[in-house]
This record gives sequence, C-alpha cells and structure tokens, in this order.
Amino acid sequence: MISKKLVDAFNEQINKELFSEYLYLSMAAWFEAENLPGCANFFKVQVQEERFHAMKMYDYVNERGGRVLLKAIDQPEIEFKSALEIFEKAYGHEQLVTSLINNLMEVAIEEKDHATKSFLNWFIDEQVEEEASMDAIVGKFKMIGGNGHGMLMIDNDLSQRVFTPPTV
Ligand code: FEO
Repeated sequence: MISKKLVDAFNEQINKELFSEYLYLSMAAWFEAENLPGCANFFKVQVQEERFHAMKMYDYVNERGGRVLLKAIDQPEIEFKSALEIFEKAYGHEQLVTSLINNLMEVAIEEKDHATKSFLNWFIDEQVEEEASMDAIVGKFKMIGGNGHGMLMIDNDLSQRVFTPPTV
C-alpha cells in the first residue's frame, strides 16, 4: 500500500502532466493558425506523450491501492510571438517538470517506498529526453534566425514525428 503523502504528491503530478498536455495543445493550435503544420504536429504528438505520462501515474496509483483525485487544470497561455518563443517556453516547461519529478522522488525516498523509487526512475530518464528534444529544436530556430526557407525546412522535419507509446 502506498502512503497518503505519496498519493497526494502523485495526484499533484498527474495534474501537472495533464496541464502539460493542455499547454502543448495550445501551442499546437497557435502553429495551426500560423500555417506551420509540421510544428503543430510536433506538439500534437507531445500532447499524446503527456497523456501517456499522466495515465502511467494514474494506473500506478490505482495498482498500489491509492485513490486518484483529479484537480482543475490551469488555463494555458494562448498567445505567442514566434516559433522560437514557443519552443523556448516548452523547454523551460520541461525543466520545471524535471524539478517536479525530482521532488516526487524525494518524497518516495523519505517514505522509504522502494517500489515507487523504481517506478519513478522511468520518469527521471524520460525527462532527460524531454528536455533534450526541446533544446535541440530551440537551437535549430536560433540557427536560422527567422529565415523563411529555414523555417519551412524545420517545419517539414517536425511533420515526420509520430507518437510511439514508450516501452516500459
Ligand atoms: Fe510529462 Fe514532458 O513531461
């Protein structure tokens, strides 16, 4: 059985993962309106990743005999200035999520819950990838410096992304 303190911490993190999903859907919507369908596709795949993260935690809490309690999801930002700004914000958001996952791990350590520590290791590794993928695209947008041709090339690249449920 999982402790109440950990269940509360997981419920908080499930909310943050669902907020991430909503934030990235808002970013996708901005790209749709800007006629950059590849960038929109990238974020729509990211939406699926975030739902996967939330559901992985949801299933784990249930499996350990805890009760999932959903909270209200915050309003995400809806207006942005540029593609670069969006990817910088997404990178910053992933850094925040990494710190939240680290805090969750701290609670599991305090509670001496070894099963939860093992479960959370997957998220610790996943965050390395999440940050790296956003950071790499920030670098590309900086490199092209607003050049239209470069923008179309990046957009075309990002149109190739597909959602593959991570192997667990
Ligand atoms: Fe669920 Fe992008 O971290």
